[in-house]
Amino acid sequence: MKIGLLGYGTVGSAFYAMAIEHPETSDITLLDLKRHDDLTCRQTADFQDILRDESIGTVVELIGGLHPAYEFVSSALKSGKHVVTANKQLVSACYDELIALAEENSVSLRCTAAAGGGIPWLHSLARLAECDRITSVSGIMNGTTNYILSAMTEQGTEYADNLREAQRLGYAEADPTADVEGYDACRKLVLSANIAFGVSIREAEVPCFGISGITAQDIAAFKRLGLVCKLIAHADRAGDQVAACVEPMLFPVSGQMAHVNGPDNLISLHAERVGTQRFAGAGAGGFATASNVLADCFEIMRGCGAFYTSRRDAVSVNNAALTQRYYVRAGEEAASRTMTVAEAHAMADQFKKERKPFFMAAASEER
Ligand code: HSE
Repeated sequence: MKIGLLGYGTVGSAFYAMAIEHPETSDITLLDLKRHDDLTCRQTADFQDILRDESIGTVVELIGGLHPAYEFVSSALKSGKHVVTANKQLVSACYDELIALAEENSVSLRCTAAAGGGIPWLHSLARLAECDRITSVSGIMNGTTNYILSAMTEQGTEYADNLREAQRLGYAEADPTADVEGYDACRKLVLSANIAFGVSIREAEVPCFGISGITAQDIAAFKRLGLVCKLIAHADRAGDQVAACVEPMLFPVSGQMAHVNGPDNLISLHAERVGTQRFAGAGAGGFATASNVLADCFEIMRGCGAFYTSRRDAVSVNNAALTQRYYVRAGEEAASRTMTVAEAHAMADQFKKERKPFFMAAASEER
Protein backbone atom coordinates (compact mmCIF):
# COMPACT_ATOMS: atom_id res chain seq x y z
CA MET A 1 0.00 0.00 0.00
CA LYS A 2 1.54 3.33 -1.04
CA ILE A 3 1.13 6.02 1.59
CA GLY A 4 1.09 9.81 1.34
CA LEU A 5 2.20 11.00 4.78
CA LEU A 6 1.19 14.56 5.61
CA GLY A 7 3.31 16.04 8.40
CA TYR A 8 6.53 15.08 10.17
CA GLY A 9 6.01 16.35 13.72
CA THR A 10 5.92 14.28 16.92
CA VAL A 11 3.37 11.77 15.61
CA GLY A 12 4.36 11.96 11.92
CA SER A 13 8.00 11.11 12.60
CA ALA A 14 7.03 8.27 14.99
CA PHE A 15 4.61 6.91 12.36
CA TYR A 16 7.36 7.03 9.71
CA ALA A 17 9.79 5.14 11.97
CA MET A 18 7.20 2.43 12.66
CA ALA A 19 5.76 2.19 9.13
CA ILE A 20 9.12 1.65 7.37
CA GLU A 21 9.68 -1.45 9.52
CA HIS A 22 6.84 -3.20 7.62
CA PRO A 23 7.18 -3.96 3.88
CA GLU A 24 3.42 -3.33 3.36
CA THR A 25 3.61 0.26 4.66
CA SER A 26 7.18 1.28 3.87
CA ASP A 27 6.47 2.95 0.50
CA ILE A 28 5.93 6.51 1.69
CA THR A 29 5.83 9.93 0.06
CA LEU A 30 6.22 12.63 2.70
CA LEU A 31 4.62 16.04 2.48
CA ASP A 32 6.43 18.57 4.66
CA LEU A 33 7.48 22.16 4.13
CA LYS A 34 10.95 21.26 5.38
CA ARG A 35 13.23 18.76 3.61
CA HIS A 36 14.57 15.92 5.79
CA ASP A 37 17.93 14.85 4.34
CA ASP A 38 18.18 11.88 6.69
CA LEU A 39 15.07 10.21 5.18
CA THR A 40 15.18 7.91 2.17
CA CYS A 41 11.52 8.32 1.11
CA ARG A 42 10.21 10.62 -1.65
CA GLN A 43 9.56 14.11 -0.30
CA THR A 44 7.51 17.02 -1.54
CA ALA A 45 6.24 20.35 -0.27
CA ASP A 46 3.28 20.33 -2.68
CA PHE A 47 0.15 18.39 -1.75
CA GLN A 48 -0.85 18.18 -5.43
CA ASP A 49 2.07 15.74 -5.97
CA ILE A 50 0.36 13.34 -3.56
CA LEU A 51 -3.14 13.97 -4.86
CA ARG A 52 -2.12 13.44 -8.50
CA ASP A 53 -0.16 10.26 -7.78
CA GLU A 54 -2.72 7.53 -8.50
CA SER A 55 -0.47 4.88 -7.02
CA ILE A 56 -0.90 6.44 -3.55
CA GLY A 57 -3.97 4.70 -2.14
CA THR A 58 -3.93 6.04 1.43
CA VAL A 59 -3.29 9.49 2.83
CA VAL A 60 -2.15 9.63 6.47
CA GLU A 61 -2.91 13.10 7.80
CA LEU A 62 -0.81 14.06 10.83
CA ILE A 63 -0.62 17.82 10.41
CA GLY A 64 -3.34 18.58 12.95
CA GLY A 65 -5.54 21.67 13.12
CA LEU A 66 -8.42 22.55 10.80
CA HIS A 67 -6.58 24.13 7.87
CA PRO A 68 -5.09 23.02 5.57
CA ALA A 69 -5.90 19.55 6.99
CA TYR A 70 -9.57 19.92 5.98
CA GLU A 71 -8.71 20.79 2.37
CA PHE A 72 -6.14 17.97 2.12
CA VAL A 73 -8.38 15.31 3.67
CA SER A 74 -11.51 16.23 1.73
CA SER A 75 -9.69 16.35 -1.61
CA ALA A 76 -7.98 13.02 -0.87
CA LEU A 77 -11.37 11.40 -0.15
CA LYS A 78 -12.87 12.95 -3.30
CA SER A 79 -9.95 11.51 -5.32
CA GLY A 80 -10.76 8.03 -4.07
CA LYS A 81 -7.93 7.75 -1.55
CA HIS A 82 -8.47 6.23 1.90
CA VAL A 83 -7.66 8.57 4.78
CA VAL A 84 -6.20 7.81 8.20
CA THR A 85 -5.98 10.73 10.58
CA ALA A 86 -5.28 11.43 14.25
CA ASN A 87 -6.88 14.86 13.92
CA LYS A 88 -9.70 15.03 16.48
CA GLN A 89 -10.30 18.72 15.81
CA LEU A 90 -10.96 18.03 12.13
CA VAL A 91 -13.06 14.89 12.52
CA SER A 92 -15.10 16.35 15.39
CA ALA A 93 -15.79 19.64 13.55
CA CYS A 94 -16.60 18.06 10.17
CA TYR A 95 -17.96 14.70 11.36
CA ASP A 96 -21.01 14.33 9.09
CA GLU A 97 -19.37 15.89 6.06
CA LEU A 98 -16.22 13.75 6.08
CA ILE A 99 -18.10 10.50 6.68
CA ALA A 100 -20.48 11.34 3.84
CA LEU A 101 -17.52 12.10 1.55
CA ALA A 102 -15.89 8.77 2.39
CA GLU A 103 -19.20 6.96 1.74
CA GLU A 104 -19.81 8.74 -1.58
CA ASN A 105 -16.35 7.85 -2.81
CA SER A 106 -16.37 4.28 -1.41
CA VAL A 107 -13.22 4.83 0.60
CA SER A 108 -12.38 4.39 4.23
CA LEU A 109 -11.92 7.11 6.85
CA ARG A 110 -10.21 5.88 10.04
CA CYS A 111 -9.30 8.02 13.05
CA THR A 112 -8.65 5.57 15.90
CA ALA A 113 -5.71 7.64 17.17
CA ALA A 114 -7.94 10.71 17.49
CA ALA A 115 -9.17 9.60 20.93
CA GLY A 116 -7.15 7.71 23.51
CA GLY A 117 -3.72 8.11 21.83
CA GLY A 118 -2.44 4.53 21.67
CA ILE A 119 -5.55 2.90 23.17
CA PRO A 120 -7.78 1.18 20.56
CA TRP A 121 -10.77 2.95 22.14
CA LEU A 122 -12.83 4.09 19.14
CA HIS A 123 -12.28 0.74 17.48
CA SER A 124 -13.55 -1.10 20.58
CA LEU A 125 -16.54 1.25 20.91
CA ALA A 126 -17.54 0.57 17.32
CA ARG A 127 -17.33 -3.20 17.78
CA LEU A 128 -19.44 -3.13 20.94
CA ALA A 129 -21.97 -0.62 19.60
CA GLU A 130 -22.91 -3.20 16.96
CA CYS A 131 -24.01 -5.79 19.50
CA ASP A 132 -24.99 -3.93 22.69
CA ARG A 133 -26.51 -0.57 23.71
CA ILE A 134 -23.77 1.66 25.08
CA THR A 135 -25.25 4.07 27.62
CA SER A 136 -22.24 6.08 28.77
CA VAL A 137 -18.65 6.95 27.92
CA SER A 138 -16.42 8.79 30.35
CA GLY A 139 -12.92 9.27 31.62
CA ILE A 140 -9.56 10.96 31.34
CA MET A 141 -9.20 11.70 27.62
CA ASN A 142 -6.39 14.27 27.63
CA GLY A 143 -2.80 13.31 28.45
CA THR A 144 -1.45 16.85 28.85
CA THR A 145 -3.86 17.90 31.58
CA ASN A 146 -3.46 14.58 33.36
CA TYR A 147 0.31 15.07 33.28
CA ILE A 148 -0.06 18.60 34.73
CA LEU A 149 -2.56 17.59 37.43
CA SER A 150 -0.52 14.52 38.45
CA ALA A 151 2.68 16.57 38.73
CA MET A 152 0.93 19.31 40.73
CA THR A 153 -0.51 16.66 43.08
CA GLU A 154 2.73 14.68 43.49
CA GLN A 155 5.17 17.59 43.73
CA GLY A 156 3.02 20.53 44.89
CA THR A 157 4.37 22.50 41.91
CA GLU A 158 2.61 25.26 39.97
CA TYR A 159 0.47 24.86 36.87
CA ALA A 160 2.61 26.91 34.46
CA ASP A 161 5.86 24.96 35.12
CA ASN A 162 4.16 21.64 34.43
CA LEU A 163 2.47 22.90 31.26
CA ARG A 164 5.90 23.88 29.88
CA GLU A 165 7.20 20.39 30.68
CA ALA A 166 4.17 18.72 28.99
CA GLN A 167 4.93 20.79 25.87
CA ARG A 168 8.61 19.85 25.96
CA LEU A 169 7.68 16.15 26.22
CA GLY A 170 5.45 16.38 23.13
CA TYR A 171 2.11 15.69 24.87
CA ALA A 172 0.49 19.09 24.31
CA GLU A 173 -1.00 20.36 21.08
CA ALA A 174 0.95 23.06 19.16
CA ASP A 175 -1.36 25.56 20.83
CA PRO A 176 -1.91 24.06 24.31
CA THR A 177 -5.07 26.14 24.85
CA ALA A 178 -7.03 23.22 23.40
CA ASP A 179 -5.58 20.88 26.05
CA VAL A 180 -5.87 23.06 29.14
CA GLU A 181 -9.29 24.56 28.36
CA GLY A 182 -10.73 21.07 27.75
CA TYR A 183 -11.42 21.50 24.00
CA ASP A 184 -9.18 18.58 23.07
CA ALA A 185 -11.01 16.28 25.53
CA CYS A 186 -14.31 17.68 24.25
CA ARG A 187 -13.46 16.72 20.65
CA LYS A 188 -12.53 13.21 21.78
CA LEU A 189 -15.79 13.00 23.75
CA VAL A 190 -17.84 14.08 20.73
CA LEU A 191 -16.20 11.41 18.58
CA SER A 192 -16.64 8.77 21.28
CA ALA A 193 -20.30 9.62 21.95
CA ASN A 194 -21.11 9.78 18.24
CA ILE A 195 -19.64 6.36 17.56
CA ALA A 196 -20.92 4.77 20.79
CA PHE A 197 -24.48 6.11 20.61
CA GLY A 198 -24.88 6.34 16.79
CA VAL A 199 -25.58 10.07 17.02
CA SER A 200 -24.17 13.31 15.71
CA ILE A 201 -23.65 15.81 18.52
CA ARG A 202 -21.60 18.93 17.93
CA GLU A 203 -18.64 20.24 19.88
CA ALA A 204 -20.22 23.68 20.36
CA GLU A 205 -23.13 22.11 22.29
CA VAL A 206 -20.91 20.45 24.90
CA PRO A 207 -20.10 22.62 27.96
CA CYS A 208 -16.41 22.59 28.56
CA PHE A 209 -14.41 23.84 31.56
CA GLY A 210 -10.68 23.18 31.75
CA ILE A 211 -7.86 23.44 34.28
CA SER A 212 -6.13 26.71 33.38
CA GLY A 213 -7.52 28.36 36.55
CA ILE A 214 -6.25 25.73 38.99
CA THR A 215 -3.67 26.74 41.62
CA ALA A 216 -1.37 24.88 44.00
CA GLN A 217 -3.73 26.06 46.78
CA ASP A 218 -6.68 24.25 45.15
CA ILE A 219 -4.60 21.07 44.94
CA ALA A 220 -3.58 21.44 48.61
CA ALA A 221 -7.25 21.89 49.62
CA PHE A 222 -8.22 18.71 47.71
CA LYS A 223 -5.38 16.81 49.37
CA ARG A 224 -6.61 17.80 52.84
CA LEU A 225 -9.99 16.28 51.90
CA GLY A 226 -8.38 13.07 50.57
CA LEU A 227 -9.29 13.98 46.98
CA VAL A 228 -7.48 14.12 43.65
CA CYS A 229 -8.49 16.32 40.70
CA LYS A 230 -8.76 14.94 37.13
CA LEU A 231 -10.11 16.48 33.92
CA ILE A 232 -13.04 14.26 32.94
CA ALA A 233 -15.11 14.07 29.78
CA HIS A 234 -18.43 12.27 30.15
CA ALA A 235 -21.48 11.58 28.04
CA ASP A 236 -24.64 9.71 28.93
CA ARG A 237 -27.47 8.63 26.72
CA ALA A 238 -30.70 10.01 28.17
CA GLY A 239 -33.75 8.97 26.12
CA ASP A 240 -33.47 10.76 22.79
CA GLN A 241 -30.98 13.25 24.17
CA VAL A 242 -27.38 13.14 25.30
CA ALA A 243 -25.96 14.66 28.49
CA ALA A 244 -22.31 15.56 27.90
CA CYS A 245 -19.66 17.81 29.38
CA VAL A 246 -15.97 18.25 30.13
CA GLU A 247 -14.99 19.43 33.61
CA PRO A 248 -12.49 18.85 36.43
CA MET A 249 -13.74 16.21 38.89
CA LEU A 250 -12.61 15.14 42.34
CA PHE A 251 -11.96 11.47 43.10
CA PRO A 252 -11.08 9.69 46.35
CA VAL A 253 -7.32 9.25 46.69
CA SER A 254 -7.84 5.52 47.28
CA GLY A 255 -9.74 4.95 44.00
CA GLN A 256 -8.59 3.83 40.55
CA MET A 257 -8.86 7.27 38.91
CA ALA A 258 -6.47 8.83 41.42
CA HIS A 259 -3.76 6.42 40.30
CA VAL A 260 -3.84 7.30 36.60
CA ASN A 261 -0.73 9.43 36.35
CA GLY A 262 1.38 11.26 33.77
CA PRO A 263 0.00 11.42 30.22
CA ASP A 264 -2.05 8.23 30.67
CA ASN A 265 -5.77 8.04 29.87
CA LEU A 266 -8.40 5.89 31.58
CA ILE A 267 -11.64 5.73 29.62
CA SER A 268 -14.73 3.69 30.44
CA LEU A 269 -17.88 2.68 28.71
CA HIS A 270 -21.04 1.23 30.14
CA ALA A 271 -23.29 -0.97 28.01
CA GLU A 272 -26.59 -2.58 28.97
CA ARG A 273 -25.50 -6.21 28.64
CA VAL A 274 -21.72 -6.14 28.82
CA GLY A 275 -21.63 -3.77 31.80
CA THR A 276 -18.62 -1.55 32.44
CA GLN A 277 -15.35 -1.82 30.52
CA ARG A 278 -12.24 0.27 31.21
CA PHE A 279 -9.41 1.06 28.81
CA ALA A 280 -6.13 2.44 30.09
CA GLY A 281 -2.81 3.39 28.58
CA ALA A 282 -0.72 6.10 26.98
CA GLY A 283 -3.12 8.81 25.82
CA ALA A 284 -0.52 11.05 24.20
CA GLY A 285 2.98 10.87 22.77
CA GLY A 286 4.45 10.10 19.36
CA PHE A 287 4.81 6.32 19.33
CA ALA A 288 1.61 5.62 21.28
CA THR A 289 -0.49 7.67 18.86
CA ALA A 290 1.41 6.43 15.80
CA SER A 291 0.70 2.80 16.72
CA ASN A 292 -3.05 3.39 16.33
CA VAL A 293 -2.45 5.22 13.03
CA LEU A 294 -0.43 2.29 11.72
CA ALA A 295 -3.06 -0.20 12.94
CA ASP A 296 -5.67 1.78 10.96
CA CYS A 297 -3.47 1.45 7.83
CA PHE A 298 -3.35 -2.32 8.33
CA GLU A 299 -7.14 -2.43 8.75
CA ILE A 300 -7.56 -0.62 5.44
CA MET A 301 -5.21 -3.11 3.79
CA ARG A 302 -7.41 -5.90 5.13
CA GLY A 303 -10.39 -4.32 3.34
CA CYS A 304 -12.08 -2.37 6.11
CA GLY A 305 -14.07 0.00 3.93
CA ALA A 306 -16.40 1.94 6.16
CA PHE A 307 -16.44 4.45 8.96
CA TYR A 308 -16.93 2.99 12.46
CA THR A 309 -20.69 3.46 12.27
CA SER A 310 -23.20 4.46 9.63
CA ARG A 311 -25.66 5.84 12.24
CA ARG A 312 -25.70 9.60 12.73
CA ASP A 313 -29.02 10.53 14.45
CA ALA A 314 -29.10 14.27 15.09
CA VAL A 315 -29.73 14.70 18.83
CA SER A 316 -29.29 17.65 21.16
CA VAL A 317 -27.08 17.89 24.24
CA ASN A 318 -29.01 18.56 27.45
CA ASN A 319 -27.37 18.70 30.90
CA ALA A 320 -30.35 20.13 32.81
CA ALA A 321 -31.16 16.86 34.63
CA LEU A 322 -27.69 16.09 36.01
CA THR A 323 -27.07 17.58 39.49
CA GLN A 324 -23.68 17.39 41.20
CA ARG A 325 -21.83 18.85 44.18
CA TYR A 326 -19.13 21.31 43.10
CA TYR A 327 -16.06 22.80 44.75
CA VAL A 328 -16.21 26.42 43.64
CA ARG A 329 -13.43 28.97 44.18
CA ALA A 330 -13.88 32.58 43.12
CA GLY A 331 -10.82 34.67 43.94
CA GLU A 332 -9.63 33.40 47.35
CA GLU A 333 -13.09 32.24 48.50
CA ALA A 334 -13.80 28.53 48.22
CA ALA A 335 -17.20 26.94 48.87
CA SER A 336 -19.18 23.84 48.07
CA ARG A 337 -22.43 24.12 46.05
CA THR A 338 -24.92 21.66 44.62
CA MET A 339 -25.95 22.62 41.06
CA THR A 340 -26.99 21.13 37.77
CA VAL A 341 -24.16 20.76 35.27
CA ALA A 342 -25.90 23.40 33.14
CA GLU A 343 -25.95 25.90 36.06
CA ALA A 344 -22.33 25.25 37.02
CA HIS A 345 -21.07 25.79 33.48
CA ALA A 346 -23.17 28.94 33.04
CA MET A 347 -21.55 30.31 36.20
CA ALA A 348 -18.07 29.36 34.94
CA ASP A 349 -18.77 31.09 31.60
CA GLN A 350 -19.77 34.27 33.44
CA PHE A 351 -16.52 34.35 35.48
CA LYS A 352 -14.54 33.71 32.30
CA LYS A 353 -16.27 36.60 30.55
CA GLU A 354 -15.46 38.89 33.49
CA ARG A 355 -11.87 37.53 33.51
CA LYS A 356 -12.10 36.83 37.25
CA PRO A 357 -9.98 34.09 38.91
CA PHE A 358 -12.23 31.06 39.21
CA PHE A 359 -11.97 27.29 39.47
CA MET A 360 -14.57 24.59 39.94
CA ALA A 361 -14.51 20.81 40.18
CA ALA A 362 -17.37 18.36 40.58
CA ALA A 363 -17.38 15.72 43.29
CA SER A 364 -17.56 12.23 41.85
CA GLU A 365 -17.99 8.66 42.77
CA GLU A 366 -15.70 6.49 40.64
CA ARG A 367 -17.37 6.06 37.27
N1 HSE B 1 -2.61 16.81 23.25
C1 HSE B 1 -3.24 15.53 23.31
C2 HSE B 1 -3.29 15.06 24.74
C3 HSE B 1 -2.48 14.57 22.45
O1 HSE B 1 -2.58 15.65 25.57
O2 HSE B 1 -4.04 14.14 25.06
C4 HSE B 1 -3.15 13.25 22.24
O3 HSE B 1 -4.39 13.37 21.61
